[in-house]
Amino acid sequence: MTKLKEKPKINIKEIDKIIESHRNKKWGLIPMLQEIQERAGYIPPEVIPRVADAVGLFPSQVQAVITFYSQLYTHPRGKNIVRVCRGTACHVRGGKTILKLVKQHLGIEEGETTEDMEYTLETVACIGVCALAPNLVVNTNIHGNMNPKKVAAIFGNYKGS
Ligand code: FES
Repeated sequence: MTKLKEKPKINIKEIDKIIESHRNKKWGLIPMLQEIQERAGYIPPEVIPRVADAVGLFPSQVQAVITFYSQLYTHPRGKNIVRVCRGTACHVRGGKTILKLVKQHLGIEEGETTEDMEYTLETVACIGVCALAPNLVVNTNIHGNMNPKKVAAIFGNYKGS
């Protein structure tokens, strides 16, 4: 669950323009959803019926597609996406403790976003740099050989909102 004081404002007119530009296009659904997400930061659930209508599907079918693609989101996400690796190599080298510390610093659980929209915390199966385990990624920056000091160096100054 995302912890938010209030949802960021979305421009429904802009989203409607995107929907119209993909109306009746055979393969329009995924590009349309990607474009909406790029513009709004996520796919607002309230636009799903209009998206479905534009491509001749039921809203439940559009929802199923969104659920299937892990890169599509129906909730707002933070400016910074933190992914802690929970793959085997990271796990045996202390990944669980790293995740616990990150949770403490940010004050959120896995899958949540800080109230100020600064951070979203996720876990990943393996990011492919097991030799540096345990790892975490902030946006596109990989932080390897993590330990409590390094976690504090990255998140220690974060005061929350
Ligand atoms: S298990 Fe963490 S990078 Fe592979």
